[in-house]
Order: sequence, then structure tokens, then C-alpha cells
Amino acid sequence: MRKRKVVSAAVITILGIAIWLCVRFPYEIGASVTALLGTSGRIDPLTLHLQGEFVESNLGTAVEPDGSITVRLIAQQYNFVPACTIVPIGVPIRFRVTSADVVHRLGFPDSGQELEVVPGHVSEEKVQFTSAGEHVIPCNEFCGAGHWDMRSRVMAVPGDQFSKLQPQERLTCASR
Ligand code: CUA
Repeated sequence: MRKRKVVSAAVITILGIAIWLCVRFPYEIGASVTALLGTSGRIDPLTLHLQGEFVESNLGTAVEPDGSITVRLIAQQYNFVPACTIVPIGVPIRFRVTSADVVHRLGFPDSGQELEVVPGHVSEEKVQFTSAGEHVIPCNEFCGAGHWDMRSRVMAVPGDQFSKLQPQERLTCASR
């Protein structure tokens, strides 16, 4: 009986450590990096959907007044919002991404670029897509139990096709 108690206590301890490693550890590392860079508190992960740059209506692909392209995403356990974005090929796309919870990392397989996303901070990277079609952008930072299935999709289309899209159609391809 006593042995069983000891075993279950050990199992609970190991589970606790595993959960901490999955959920809290990436956050702690991210928070330390953010503190070191002096960029903490730039954006509140708790109010992303309510105010500022990352409100829902501002997510996805935007054409800036100078004609450049920006993609805004929220990374969260375990998806990206929006799930799919549509961009033109052959031009630099400015990705601006923030996290609603823990540290995530977008991996762009074509170029080998990576973008670490830390809660409280907006990460930015310019990425160019050279081929048309769907590009899968996985999360490359272990962020918890659903990490393995966390990915974003980018639909790259020729520039003339992109410019024919209505502003609303440009925002996201999540429904396609
Ligand atoms: Cu997000 Cu792994």
C-alpha cells in the first residue's frame, strides 16, 4: 500500500515537471530574452484581440500606403490567426507576429529563415516567396502538447493575380 503511494507521488511529480517543461519553461526563457533585450511590455498578450495592431480586423495580409505588403499574425497554442494568408510572389513580405501565450517560432522552409515570437513583443522578419502555391510554415519551437500540429499556411500567387483581389479577399485564405 505504502509502495503504491510512493509510486503515485513519483508519477505526479514527474507529470508536474513535464507540464512545467512544456508550458512554463519556453515562457520563462522567452521572458528572460525579452527582459535582456529591454523590449518587455511592448504589447499586452492579454488584450491583443481588444485593442491595437493585432485586433482581428487588422490580421492577415495588408497592402501598405507605399505598396509594400505586411502580414500580421497571432501565434497561440496551437495555431496561428489567421490560419492561412495570401501573398504575392517575388516581393519582400514583412511578417509582424506576436504571441498570445508562450514562445513560438515560425520556420520558413523555402528560405530557411526563422522568426521567434515572444509574448509581449512584436517580432518582424522580411520573407520572399519565389514559387506560387501553398507554403506550410510550421512552429519550430516546442510550445506544448499540440506543438507538433501547429502550423500556418501561406498561399503565394503571382503579383497580377494578387492585385486583382478585393481588399477583403487579400486578408486571408483560411476559408479556402
Ligand atoms: Cu508553437 Cu510550437
